[in-house]
Amino acid sequence: MLWTKNLETGIPTIDEQHKELFRQIDALLAVSGANKEKQVTEALNFLDRYIVKHFTDEQNMHLQSKYPKAVAHRTYHDNYVTTFRQLKEKYIKEGPTVANNMAVNKSVVGWLKEHILIHDKEFAEFYKKKP
Ligand SMILES: [Fe+2]
Repeated sequence: MLWTKNLETGIPTIDEQHKELFRQIDALLAVSGANKEKQVTEALNFLDRYIVKHFTDEQNMHLQSKYPKAVAHRTYHDNYVTTFRQLKEKYIKEGPTVANNMAVNKSVVGWLKEHILIHDKEFAEFYKKKP
């Protein structure tokens, strides 16, 4: 499991979705290897939809709680979706090559962890302090 306890924000809905995201990435990396194009494509498309759903939910929380950094946070999300989709296209075209799996680890997993640790935790601090 790629999710670790230090990634916890303390906001249950967000933490659950983060765990599910990491589960999906785990599943994607698990199908990699042999000729499993169809499974890889399905996993990537599922992940794509789930990422968008999760970001939308987070952004709604930002807006509802009048989070001052909502716009900047949204930009991080939008850039991530762009990066993810570029990688997804490459992955679908070339399959689970070593290079593509490394890119998933670096750009998909690495980014997500850093984003949660810095930006989602920053929001969680703000959110939990709100009356
Ligand atoms: Fe976020």
